[in-house]
Amino acid sequence: MASSDFALFMGQLFRKPHQVVALAPSSAGLCAEMVAELDPDGGPVIELGAGTGNITRAILDAGIAPENCHSIEMNPEFCDHLRDRFPGLNVYQMSAGECGDLPVENVQAIISGLPLLSMPTQLQRDILTGFTQKVAPGGQYVQFTYGPKPSVTKAVRDELNLSWRRSGKIWWNMPPARVYRFSHGEHV
Ligand SMILES: C[S@@+](CC[C@H](N)C(=O)[O-])C[C@H]1O[C@@H](n2cnc3c(N)ncnc32)[C@H](O)[C@@H]1O
Repeated sequence: MASSDFALFMGQLFRKPHQVVALAPSSAGLCAEMVAELDPDGGPVIELGAGTGNITRAILDAGIAPENCHSIEMNPEFCDHLRDRFPGLNVYQMSAGECGDLPVENVQAIISGLPLLSMPTQLQRDILTGFTQKVAPGGQYVQFTYGPKPSVTKAVRDELNLSWRRSGKIWWNMPPARVYRFSHGEHV
């Protein structure tokens, strides 16, 4: 990660701590786990809370073409940075709660760097409802978390019939994290 990316991240963390909600950008190990099940031929991907683009970089390195990656980020400084860093990437400056409105269908996965568990339940519901609208059969909502509980609150999991599995702990991250993969209906 370039030192200018790190400086941008820390500057925005200082100005907007309630939006960024992380001590540091995601590590290489966490990014690798987030994209581990992407298929280069599996269709488009939506990314939520792209920040300075560490997970975006991993999505593209997994073989997803920039025009097949749709990255939502609400912070305008991060959006400008993403457009400079990744020519051809679809960058949307908007709330992740509106992901159901994106002009893309049948996505293979939504990869989320959002601080989801610190968000209000209604916003979580809007985001995961968007997932159920946009995802292809068998597709995943991929979300890391630092704590011991699943990274989508139980009320929303139950309402939307979401099943999940989780990775081992990724220690080489600040703080250590796990990746949860949620599916809609019977697929996990
Ligand atoms: C923990 S940082 C993750 C950044 C990057 N994906 C990473 O893993 O290093 C969370 C990001 O989500 C963005 N964010 C927070 N709430 C959001 C919302 N409602 N809609 C879109 N982006 C949001 C923040 O601006 C921030 O860039």
